[in-house]
Amino acid sequence: MAETSPGRVAPEQRETWTHNTGFILAAIGSAVGLGNIWRFPGVAYESGGGAFLIPYLVALLTAGIPILFLDYAIGHRYRGAAPLAYRRMRKGMEPLGWFQIMLSFVISVYYAAVIAWSLSYFVFAFDLRWGEDTAGFFVGEYLQVGDPEVSTTIVSAVAIPLVLVWLAVLVILALGVANGVQKVNMVFIPLLAVAFAGLVVRALTLDGAMDGLDAFFTPDWGALTDLSVWIAAYSQIFFSLSIAFGIMVTYASYQRRKANMTSSGLVVAFANSSFELLAGIGVFATLGFLAFQQNVAIDELEGLTGPILSFVTFPAVISQMPGGNIFGIVFFASLVMAGFTSLISILLGVAATVQEKFGLSRRAAAISVSAVCAVISIGLFSTTSGLLALDTVDQFANNVGIVLSAILMTVLVVWVVRKGELLRSHLNAVSTFPLGRWWLALLGIVSPVFLLVMLGQKLVSLIQDGYEGLPAWYIGVFGWGTIAFVSVMAVVLAALPWKGRDEPDFRPWPALEEEHRS
Ligand code: PHE
Repeated sequence: MAETSPGRVAPEQRETWTHNTGFILAAIGSAVGLGNIWRFPGVAYESGGGAFLIPYLVALLTAGIPILFLDYAIGHRYRGAAPLAYRRMRKGMEPLGWFQIMLSFVISVYYAAVIAWSLSYFVFAFDLRWGEDTAGFFVGEYLQVGDPEVSTTIVSAVAIPLVLVWLAVLVILALGVANGVQKVNMVFIPLLAVAFAGLVVRALTLDGAMDGLDAFFTPDWGALTDLSVWIAAYSQIFFSLSIAFGIMVTYASYQRRKANMTSSGLVVAFANSSFELLAGIGVFATLGFLAFQQNVAIDELEGLTGPILSFVTFPAVISQMPGGNIFGIVFFASLVMAGFTSLISILLGVAATVQEKFGLSRRAAAISVSAVCAVISIGLFSTTSGLLALDTVDQFANNVGIVLSAILMTVLVVWVVRKGELLRSHLNAVSTFPLGRWWLALLGIVSPVFLLVMLGQKLVSLIQDGYEGLPAWYIGVFGWGTIAFVSVMAVVLAALPWKGRDEPDFRPWPALEEEHRS
């Protein structure tokens, strides 16, 4: 196939990462987050242990990396946060960009709450303040979870760190891509790697560590025939790589025009999965120690997933470990760093969108977006009913919203707007790792078919069985309501007139002949 030579690049005004390492570290910062540390180990353990690695790798190779490349291609070619990039691809595509950005917005408001908890626990670790009954402490004393399903009583122990998190987000966004986001990642990501390596080494030297690893890696082959295990693997990959949220579109849009996109993508995907596996090893070695202490088998332990793992089970282990408070301080600092760099990426996507659509300055966009998110996040998630709302919104946004987003994105780009071949030429013109037609086959056929089956199955189970025995009205408001809210807002916001500076003078680069044909 004739490749267009990139040629000279026209100068542009858009801010950029100052070097490729800056982009790669920021992209790793986005990918490596709470999802790697508490989500992955628990999901893997529940879904067949060692055997989970097979669906996980299949999901990574058939959907994760191909969609990551697609995100990169769209952002890098059309140089905008998701709504602008999609609009430049084809005007009618703007709502898809908004759908992804609204989903990011929803995730950001609860993700910030978990970072706020981690910040509190970082402080608690100094004197092991959670005491003996870590479950009672987390749910009772700290979160003050109360009876009513919806409450407006704000818990100040959560609200205060939450305000700090949002202030930090605001400052970083106002500083911009190169001076804010890139710098934070250049410091936090290497620090996180060192801190986490230290934790894993310490965990591996604990009594019972090997039993923990056994439990983690012993495959339950039967799990491979269970469709829900495959669903879990795909959702984990999407969440973990931050793909189909419009986030990577935004990050790639700030990459200089001459930039090796596919090779960077491979580095990011590989780093993210390595971190995830490392977290699994660290967490299970630690749980092996807990089981050893309590003289029980690992599968008799409870609370191995989600918030409970980090905020109930881990504090219990930390209290029993020699030198536990140091371990605790480093562990919760790691959660804060990993989570914060991901939160920044989500908010950059939202703020850049607001900036571009409404023609605001970077500062004005940063302030308005952080303020709105902060108010919603404090109002919903620092109340005594925050934990329940958080869990329900998370379930629907991640298992329904993001899968829907990925299906829409692949089908629309490849089959409706028919830009697959063009985007492939784009990536190949700038990158060293070439994409063959297999990429389009994975994007256009394999991923959507698989994702549709998964989504169907998930919808059936949510409709038939509900979620966690919650009352129908509650699931309606916080679960389906989330999806409805995101969809309606996507259409409404896309319909508002484009106020920002745009368009007639925008030229994608490199100029590729397919563009003229479509
Ligand atoms: N990838 C992040 C994690 O693993 C979370 C995230 C999701 C970040 C969506 C950006 C967008 O925790």
